[in-house]
Amino acid sequence: MLIPPEKNDNALSMHILSNSRSLYSTRRLFEEAFKRGHKVKVYPPAELSVFLDRNTLDIYFQNQKIQKPDCIIPRLGQKKPEYTLSIIRQYEMLHSATLNNSQAMARSRDKFRSMQILTQSRIAVPKTFYLDALEDIDMAIELAGGAPLILKLPTGSQGMGVMLAETRASARSILDTLLNQGQQVMVQEFIAEAKGSDIRAIVLGGKLITAMRRSAINDDFRSNIHRGGTSEITELTIESKRAVQLAARVLGLQFAGVDLIESKRGPLILEVNSSPGLEGIEGATGVNVALHCVQYLEKLNRLRSLRDQIGY
Ligand SMILES: Nc1ncnc2c1ncn2[C@@H]1O[C@H](COP(=O)(O)OP(=O)(O)O)[C@@H](O)[C@H]1O
Ligand SMILES: [Mg+2]
Repeated sequence: MLIPPEKNDNALSMHILSNSRSLYSTRRLFEEAFKRGHKVKVYPPAELSVFLDRNTLDIYFQNQKIQKPDCIIPRLGQKKPEYTLSIIRQYEMLHSATLNNSQAMARSRDKFRSMQILTQSRIAVPKTFYLDALEDIDMAIELAGGAPLILKLPTGSQGMGVMLAETRASARSILDTLLNQGQQVMVQEFIAEAKGSDIRAIVLGGKLITAMRRSAINDDFRSNIHRGGTSEITELTIESKRAVQLAARVLGLQFAGVDLIESKRGPLILEVNSSPGLEGIEGATGVNVALHCVQYLEKLNRLRSLRDQIGY
């Protein structure tokens, strides 16, 4: 049952762009926006189409042109990411405020591209080799520090596409198979001291909101909640806090889920997600992340209307 909305004189029209209406994160974002009196709708990007012409930028749903909303909450999943990004871009061109911009989302979807950007800003990441040619396998294994090694597909998520090779021989055979299939692979040093646990930090508007420590179960090395990992609220060291906030900033993400390991040589960023799941983090920390997101959009819109008033 939904609680009736608060009366809101500054109600915003909001579109949540998510391919699954029933997903926990989508439901929570809807719920919090609705409770604050906003006019909120959920649209699966795959059911939207966009049209452009000179002086025309339109968005259609079920053959009907839809009104541009004040703001959008875009969620990017594994389903049709490129198409979803085109839809988000259309909203941006129509000047709907967005929780995350499409360019930053596209950038962070590619794990290696994000690592390049992070490294350029002197944010520490695990040693990573990216290769396409079979001839480079031995060098990659050597430079990434030898076995055990992590092998990663650049656009995997929820732990799928991340493999642990215990020996050089198994690293070689997995790389052989994947490269032969035309798949590029990241060869990464295995951070052993993580012992199957890592930290997921939520950053919003440049600030750390909350964080959880995730631990893998059944000897898995991947701590993803989708793989059955367990989680608890955690504090970050000052150094880690600085690293996650900076990571979100250099990737241009307003809202981000940053995965990191606090290693012997300091925090190492594993990846930065533009559409972090809310179930695990809200459950583990008790922090209302969905409400934070809605309030952030309210702030964005207030700033926008102020800017419009003074003509800046
Ligand atoms: N270099 C590494 N060393 C140790 N564990 C790792 C390493 N890279 C990833 N992991 C583990 O695997 C999980 C999934 O990796 P990640 O890069 O976050 O990809 P995904 O997008 O699938 O979540 C991490 O949360 C972490 O537990
Ligand atoms: Mg991850």
